[in-house]
Amino acid sequence: MKTVSHYAQMIETAISALPLDKQPTGLYAPIRYALEAGGKRLRPVLTLSVADAMCGNAACAVNQALGVEMFHNFTLLHDDVMDNADVRRGRPTVHRKYSENTAILSGDAMLTLAGMLVMKDCQDTKLRRVLNLFNKTAVEVYEGQQFDVDFESRNDVTVEEYLEMIRLKTSVLLGCACEMGAIMADADEATCKAFYNYGEKLGLSFQLKDDWLDTYGDPLTFGKEIGGDIANEKKTWLLITAMAEDRSGILDEVLGKNLPLPQKIEKVRVVYDTLDLSDRCRRLEEKYAAEAVEWLQSVKMNEDVRDFFTSLAVNSVKRTK
Ligand code: IPE
Ligand code: IPE
Ligand code: MG
Ligand code: MG
Ligand code: MG
Repeated sequence: MKTVSHYAQMIETAISALPLDKQPTGLYAPIRYALEAGGKRLRPVLTLSVADAMCGNAACAVNQALGVEMFHNFTLLHDDVMDNADVRRGRPTVHRKYSENTAILSGDAMLTLAGMLVMKDCQDTKLRRVLNLFNKTAVEVYEGQQFDVDFESRNDVTVEEYLEMIRLKTSVLLGCACEMGAIMADADEATCKAFYNYGEKLGLSFQLKDDWLDTYGDPLTFGKEIGGDIANEKKTWLLITAMAEDRSGILDEVLGKNLPLPQKIEKVRVVYDTLDLSDRCRRLEEKYAAEAVEWLQSVKMNEDVRDFFTSLAVNSVKRTK
């Protein structure tokens, strides 16, 4: 196995080689802007590392990895409009830098380009499986995004509903990224599914951490504004648990009310801290990271490969961006 940064570098190189310097620039320049802003490249790293682990050749899945990253970045363009977010990866979001119309249309183009990429250099024998997986995943992400928005105006969202919502909006894409690598490497069906389940559980841990960072992260490192979830009253595990357990009455004073944002964020944080939600959230992240690793127990692999995927899950909980 190579390092995470090795696989991430493969993707950076592939992104740089994409033919995006063309007309109309109003369509393509924002795509380049979005893709070249950095990002952890977690999903394509999963695709490439699983492929490498299963057949010793990460390059066999490079277009599929790129397609998954393109799809992810498409969701971010639209997500930032939906979440009214100003900053991503330390820079203005596409809809702020350009316009909402740009975020919509360049996003649409990215979705189609993503579909083309996952098909590229994919043998006919695998094409149907790859496309089924990609399309099924995409629709689930949209379902998750709609639940996420629906939940903003509901006050009775349960932790179970939250977990299903984040499974859809985030986890399935990590599962898809993993399985895509396994399919391209000709892994057997059981192995493909085990890697999907690894990615799916990792995704739960990953989104719990994203929600945690949205309250507790350092904006400079995280690259996004802090408190956006509280501003939108996103039903994160933190807020759902706080709503269920708060006896101070503070939440009733702020939720659904027109408070200045910094004040709202501060008050909600006080409730979280009183209930020790920061640590409790981290323990939940650890639980799902451990469940992710468990899914790989049935897969035969060298110790260094197992260590790689274990570290990935452990480091996801430790991440600061
Ligand atoms: C952001 O994903 C959206 C979520 C599903 C939390 P990442 O945290 O992977 O964003 P980048 O690609 O590294 O910027
Ligand atoms: C991300 O959820 C889900 C998708 C982009 C599909 P968030 O809305 O929490 O992601 P960030 O925090 O804006 O990256
Ligand atoms: Mg969102
Ligand atoms: Mg968002
Ligand atoms: Mg978030």
